[in-house]
Amino acid sequence: MPRPSLYSLLRPLLFRLDAEAAHGAGMRAAQLGQRVPGVVRTLFPAADARLAQSAWGLAFASPVGLAAGFDKNAALVPFWASLGLGFAEVGSVTARPSVGNPTPRAFRLPADRALVNRMGLNNEGAAAVAARLASTPRPPGFVLGVNVAKTHDPTLLGDAGIEDFRQSVRALAPQADYLALNVSCPNTAEGKTFETPDALDALLSAVVEELDREPRAGGSGSVGTPPLLVKLSPPATTDIDAGMVNELVQICLGHGVDGFIATNTASDRSGLTTEAGRLEAIGRGGLSGRPLADRALALTRHLYRTTDGAVPIIGVGGIDSAEAAYARVRAGATLLQVYTGLVYEGPGLVSRIHRGLVRLLDRDGLGTLADAVGAAAR
Ligand SMILES: Cc1cc2nc3c(=O)[nH]c(=O)nc-3n(C[C@H](O)[C@H](O)[C@H](O)COP(=O)(O)O)c2cc1C
Repeated sequence: MPRPSLYSLLRPLLFRLDAEAAHGAGMRAAQLGQRVPGVVRTLFPAADARLAQSAWGLAFASPVGLAAGFDKNAALVPFWASLGLGFAEVGSVTARPSVGNPTPRAFRLPADRALVNRMGLNNEGAAAVAARLASTPRPPGFVLGVNVAKTHDPTLLGDAGIEDFRQSVRALAPQADYLALNVSCPNTAEGKTFETPDALDALLSAVVEELDREPRAGGSGSVGTPPLLVKLSPPATTDIDAGMVNELVQICLGHGVDGFIATNTASDRSGLTTEAGRLEAIGRGGLSGRPLADRALALTRHLYRTTDGAVPIIGVGGIDSAEAAYARVRAGATLLQVYTGLVYEGPGLVSRIHRGLVRLLDRDGLGTLADAVGAAAR
């Protein structure tokens, strides 16, 4: 019988706390772990070399990264590296600091291995996060993505919203190995995303102009503008509305977007077993975790096909096992991210995905994970 992991013993205690309080406790424990990265590293071995990936000229020692929202203020970058992750996407960061929505604002749906959150983009703001990143030594070989969003303020509409994004890009691009635009947050104060053709087009024009203005010479030391990625919402069903998605994809490609992140959380509650009364009591917010997996996988496959595999995709949404990770890679993801899986499975999930991916490559007679990318999408 397999030995229970430390996390499986701790989880019942953590799950007695409200979801956000448990997250806070985990972050404080990680802060302690960050002081002894060598010790943490012995518990969480590095990924097998066969799993290494490259994208946008960056080398990823592991294809598995931390999804946005977990470390909004970039407080724990060295810790994420010591867990064996290949990269972390910090943020979402907004131009102005924000306390987010009133609590409680994060909820577990254990029967569905899911979460609902309406955090509301709480973060310390672009200037504070940029200063922290500038003074944090970057773990060697670790890739840092920075995710930016519009400040949580319903009065920031139209051009003012775009100017807000611009400010964040200006402050944070010098610190980022890649920059992700969160155009799909379901928890905005005005209840809208930037995923309409006109809004996305205007936003991308401004962001690209901002990036071209001042090629950076900072962050990881590379010169030039960081690759620009766009994070999309999940489709309503696995049956993708190709017309809508393709229009957004073409706008992105027209502006030279370098990659996609599929997907953000979902506003709907489809496919859940949690009883309706509980869902009603929780109220609105973005759904994450296992119920998202099939839809995020379908969008990944669709993006891979429509771009002929030429634009790297980060697959995220319900990845909580090596099998789910491998399916996402075969659908077209070069890289993967985890959030809700970490909450339910603990930090050992990263090494379990690594070991399982090597086993699955052996089963399929493949040399490297790169050989599997898009194998089920062609
Ligand atoms: C509590 C919570 C906060 C999140 N905050 C952000 C955020 O600030 N920006 C963002 O782009 N995505 C955010 N996300 C979405 C995740 O990055 C990810 O896209 C989504 O949860 C699906 O992955 P998962 O099923 O592995 O959780 C958040 C998710 C959760 C659960």
